[in-house]
Amino acid sequence: MSARYRVALSHDFRLPDGSPAYPDFDLSPLRDDPLVEVVWLPAGDRVRAEDLAGVDALVLLVPRFEAESIPAGGRLAIVARFGVGFDNVDVAACTAAGIAVSITPDGVRRPVAQSIMAFVLALANRVMIKDRITRMGPDGFHTRSRYMGTGLVGRTLASVGLGNIGAEMFRLAAPFGMRHVAADPAADPALARELGVELVPLDEVFRRGDFVTVNCPLLPATRGLVDARRIALMKPTAYLINTARGPIVDQPALVAALRAGRIAGAGLDVFDPEPPPADDPVLALDNVVLAPHALSWTDEGFAGIGASALASVRAVLGGRVPEHLVDRGVAGSAAFVGRLAAGRDRG
Ligand SMILES: NC(=O)c1ccc[n+]([C@@H]2O[C@H](COP(=O)([O-])OP(=O)(O)OC[C@H]3O[C@@H](n4cnc5c(N)ncnc54)[C@H](O)[C@@H]3O)[C@@H](O)[C@H]2O)c1
Repeated sequence: MSARYRVALSHDFRLPDGSPAYPDFDLSPLRDDPLVEVVWLPAGDRVRAEDLAGVDALVLLVPRFEAESIPAGGRLAIVARFGVGFDNVDVAACTAAGIAVSITPDGVRRPVAQSIMAFVLALANRVMIKDRITRMGPDGFHTRSRYMGTGLVGRTLASVGLGNIGAEMFRLAAPFGMRHVAADPAADPALARELGVELVPLDEVFRRGDFVTVNCPLLPATRGLVDARRIALMKPTAYLINTARGPIVDQPALVAALRAGRIAGAGLDVFDPEPPPADDPVLALDNVVLAPHALSWTDEGFAGIGASALASVRAVLGGRVPEHLVDRGVAGSAAFVGRLAAGRDRG
């Protein structure tokens, strides 16, 4: 039977030798389907329209998908972004062209929440410095009383954002007996009640948090949201944790506060710029725990994100509207509805 659908993957899902870059992303549901042909896009920072001829669905990792990436009169019905950040996709242009853009909130929810808790626990128990002094032998070992940790019971876990990941973080934190506060202009009060989260104005998150976590998207309105003024509201014993996006934090202001001991420390999975250059002052601080935008990368995470992305692709190939669309408005687009119907007819 010849393939009726063509699904493209961006080049960065494969290593230069052709082996999978992320083996936990199980492609067999596509590969084993005789109706589907899997094609690989050539390497490049930006997806090119000419590489999408005859392609029904694109699974996209890092390359940018811009208005110029849209194939004229093409079959492309969905860009399935692997993850939940979609700043590399021109969603408005896709919607206007009747192309759905999906993300994988169900795939990232637990892995990113787990990584936030990893930072909370590493900072609270001073894992990094205790690892270092232990490796020094007896001289380091005997300095251990200098490095008292922070108990979590009764301390405040605070969040900028109570969405998919913020809510899961509070679910995971429940047994630690912390107070929960969050600021979110679109918060669901019923969800907040269910999670024992007190909704507060944004500045209160900074004033009250012993662990202030950033769980909002990078938007024009959130760029630089964690600025010098808000950092100055934090307790000197408090920690800032950012696993969302680097530019939400004014990084030079954070570095200044950390250098001056104005706050106790930070856990950073994301940076501005990213990756940080080798001489970036943030890398020289000893009161931070750092990760290369990959603390949440786990076998479970890649399997879950992949399964979610493929579920969106499957939905579209089957003529159905996928669950996790960035802009659900596309479902009303005649061009999108036409592509769904054409796909259904081919099946
Ligand atoms: N480090 C990683 O590997 C990684 C992985 C996945 C996601 N992320 C980041 O995490 C972010 C959150 O993901 P999510 O799935 O929870 O998204 P989400 O959209 O479900 O939740 C984000 C929440 O932030 C809220 N928000 C928006 N503006 C705000 C503001 N000014 N103040 C307070 N809250 C505000 C929104 O109302 C929403 O409820 C993503 O946008 C992404 O940048 C990072």
